[in-house]
Amino acid sequence: MDPYRNQYGAICIYCHTPHGANSQISAPLWNRTIRSGGYDIYDKPTTLMRTVSQPGPTSLTCLSCHDGTIAIDSVLNMPGPGRSPTGGLSNSELDTPNTAFLDDWTNNTFGYFGATEHFQMGDGVATGTWRNSSKCTLCHFEDIEGSAIDDFNIFTMGTDLRDDHPVGVLYPDIYTPAADFNEPNVKLPGNMAFFDTNGNNRADPDEIRMYDSGEGYEVECASCHDPHGVPSGGSGTNTRFSPSFLRVNNGIGMGMDYDNDGNISSSEGVDGIISNGPSSLCLTCHTK
Ligand code: HEC
Ligand code: HEC
Ligand code: HEC
Ligand code: HEC
Ligand code: HEC
Repeated sequence: MDPYRNQYGAICIYCHTPHGANSQISAPLWNRTIRSGGYDIYDKPTTLMRTVSQPGPTSLTCLSCHDGTIAIDSVLNMPGPGRSPTGGLSNSELDTPNTAFLDDWTNNTFGYFGATEHFQMGDGVATGTWRNSSKCTLCHFEDIEGSAIDDFNIFTMGTDLRDDHPVGVLYPDIYTPAADFNEPNVKLPGNMAFFDTNGNNRADPDEIRMYDSGEGYEVECASCHDPHGVPSGGSGTNTRFSPSFLRVNNGIGMGMDYDNDGNISSSEGVDGIISNGPSSLCLTCHTK
């Protein structure tokens, strides 16, 4: 991928920096340009009682790659002294990355590759052969038989979130049986509310949470996903991660016959993944 995004030689840097983080977003030491807003939000309410607003901080973090509008390598603070190798330049915190800044990571800086182009993930509509120039979906538009190439179309949500589970949506605050929602057992106003399944009073990676960024407890991308991966056997276990970075495994795991050949075997590809049971993520919040 080297021609299409700067290789900074470490993982955390694409999202976090110890200093000089993005001051426009309330997210942990966020090292990326973010989009300021302007998403099409969920608009198909049938039972919807709660306000849906623009995505909050813990969705804007994910969308800074997954809406497909911001280059994958658009960080604010590159490795090494200063913000970039030659100094004097800085990147935009909002919306349009400064390409001159990204170009400053030239080939062989610290021994890593500087890209000639800075691709965005894509807009999720690439079809046919070689689509979406200047996007990762130029090549990643379908699973090509026999290669390791992945189709990123389903990963690229674009800026239209009307076909996605609502984010930036207030969690209900009444919990009668008729209200259809379970009550989170820990609530920390101004911070978060969560389902403390092990009773240790901490929001562990495998516990579903709602974030309060000033409007009350809201569902965001990181309510359901932890971008660092979550051991499927629970915090601190040495089990394989749950698929799709889910906090609660929603039904993919050992003991299921995915290839439908009558045997449950290692060919199912889920050895070491422990499932919480089908729909268990959904049923943490929804009473159905
Ligand atoms: C793809 C982007 C991404 C990468 C890569 C990433 N993080 Fe994070 N990290 C996030 C997001 C988003 C949050 C906030 C999510 C939340 O509220 O739980 C976060 C939260 C954190 C937190 C605070 C909350 C917590 O879960 O403990 C720490 C500490 C952290 N990350 C450390 C790291 C380290 C160390 C690395 C590299 C090994 C890393 N992260 C890589 C996106 C990332
Ligand atoms: C630095 C850019 C970046 C950020 C920030 C980021 N992602 Fe991703 N994410 C990617 C890329 C690139 C892929 C595709 C990787 C692949 O297929 O190997 C991906 C894949 C995924 C997948 C699919 C995994 C699978 O195989 O099923 C999920 C789920 C996901 N990301 C969720 C999130 C969430 C939630 C956040 C925020 C908490 C987030 N991502 C933040 C770049 C990012
Ligand atoms: C010119 C075509 C092309 C472009 C553009 C491209 N890729 Fe790839 N990518 C490939 C091929 C081919 C592979 C498989 C490599 C292999 O077999 O080792 C791959 C593999 C990958 C992988 C590892 C396997 C996987 O899919 O999980 C990741 C992650 C990835 N690409 C991310 C990206 C990102 C992010 C971008 C945009 C910044 C991008 N690629 C742009 C051709 C491309
Ligand atoms: C209510 C829970 C929930 C929320 C909120 C949520 N997701 Fe997901 N997401 C899931 C589940 C469950 C899957 C696995 C779907 C599957 O297996 O097909 C998934 C899958 C994905 C995938 C992989 C593509 C796919 O369909 O398999 C990506 C990428 C992703 N989510 C990103 C995000 C981003 C970015 C946000 C915020 C805008 C977000 N998710 C919000 C539950 C959620
Ligand atoms: C973190 C808590 C949480 C989780 C986990 C969760 N949801 Fe939701 N979901 C909500 C909230 C809050 C709403 C907004 C509902 C409202 O206002 O009535 C919602 C809305 C919905 C809606 C739209 C309802 C409408 O009236 O349009 C559907 C459908 C839905 N969720 C299905 C799911 C599924 C399927 C899963 C599992 C993949 C899931 N949810 C996981 C909290 C959650």
